[in-house]
Amino acid sequence: MSAGVDAERFLEDLRALSRIGGRPDGGLDRLAWSQPDLEGRRFIGRRMREAGLEVRTDEALNVFGHLPASRGPWLLLGSHADSVPRGGRLDGAYGVIAALEVVRALTESSDPLAPRVEAVAFADEEGVRFGEGLLGSEALAGEVDVERLRSASDWEGVPALEVLRAAGVDLDRVPDAGRHMAEVSSYLELHIEQGPRLEEAGQDLAVVTGIVGVARRHVIIEGEQNHAGTTPFRLRRDAGRAAARAVAGLRELVQGVDGDAVANVGVIQFDPGGINVVPGRAEFDLEVRHLEATVVDRVLDAFEARLREICAEDGCRARTAVRSSVPPARMDPKLMEALERACRATGRPFTRIPSGAGHDAQVMARHVPSAMLFVPSKRGISHAPEEDTSDEHLVLGVETLLQAVRELL
Ligand code: GLV
Ligand code: MN
Ligand code: MN
Repeated sequence: MSAGVDAERFLEDLRALSRIGGRPDGGLDRLAWSQPDLEGRRFIGRRMREAGLEVRTDEALNVFGHLPASRGPWLLLGSHADSVPRGGRLDGAYGVIAALEVVRALTESSDPLAPRVEAVAFADEEGVRFGEGLLGSEALAGEVDVERLRSASDWEGVPALEVLRAAGVDLDRVPDAGRHMAEVSSYLELHIEQGPRLEEAGQDLAVVTGIVGVARRHVIIEGEQNHAGTTPFRLRRDAGRAAARAVAGLRELVQGVDGDAVANVGVIQFDPGGINVVPGRAEFDLEVRHLEATVVDRVLDAFEARLREICAEDGCRARTAVRSSVPPARMDPKLMEALERACRATGRPFTRIPSGAGHDAQVMARHVPSAMLFVPSKRGISHAPEEDTSDEHLVLGVETLLQAVRELL
């Protein structure tokens, strides 16, 4: 295995970053554009600078670091630094600190490859704030939908424009972040698996084959607000019941379309929200994922049809708005081979798997050759405080990433 990774320094930096927005239960609240998120970005920039890198924060608050006086195009290594609410300490942060450690290791050994690599901490990958993720990587790729963001707001109704302005981001200037894309030759992202497959199969590493497409919809069901004690069931137009039926039937509906497709309703709201009031309105966010865009579309069509049936039976009306649609991505075969050679060099068992989670790599893959490496997640838990990976696997991932950089360059 290639020398150079300082395991203790890497683990300590990861621990230090996880204290920013850290929760007493071991989890993390570092929502995009929050104070902990901004502090986390400053911490990453500081550690890059201490490693002798030139640091640049772009118009979307992506933080980049490369050797001073080095010139692109660079092989970009990184991930995101934001978290979901009550999330885990490794999702994203692991790949960011790993990228820093790889650049640091190359720099320290005066490796001629050091000037050819750049590290990045992407902004707002999770998309829990405005319903659409991957903002930082989309900004770099010149794909940010500025007009949509102009009218978007977060769950408290605070306009995205205001949230971004408070974080020091001028939405009109975000597209300028795309200028840097010409300086990126390819992209590698190390991440925890976030699922149970590696642990179940006794594998230590995985080369990712592709990343699922993610379609998000906002559903509004309108019925009639009424008294919950005096209104007979037969006269109710209960928007809450219609929503509950649609959500409860989701698993069977999705599996009926394709056994590998998944969907989730993670947010639901009844209006006006009184224990003795028949809800006049229900709203929820639906998410559908699969490796094939056509399957995602078929699930959405089946859901729309079922929703119309339920609403007709319950005397309600429904409308659905697109929140976001991220197409699936295939990983680059040459980069996957480099990752596989690096995995093989470790002598540890590894495999190939698709990713059910979204990643910045799926945006990058539309523009430059991109690939990902996974390490196992304990019990497959992620997007939760219990998210964990052994230190041994964390370090193994960074060493394999460093080796992959050598294989590739
Ligand atoms: C990001 O982690 C996602 O898959 O939603
Ligand atoms: Mn992630
Ligand atoms: Mn995530």
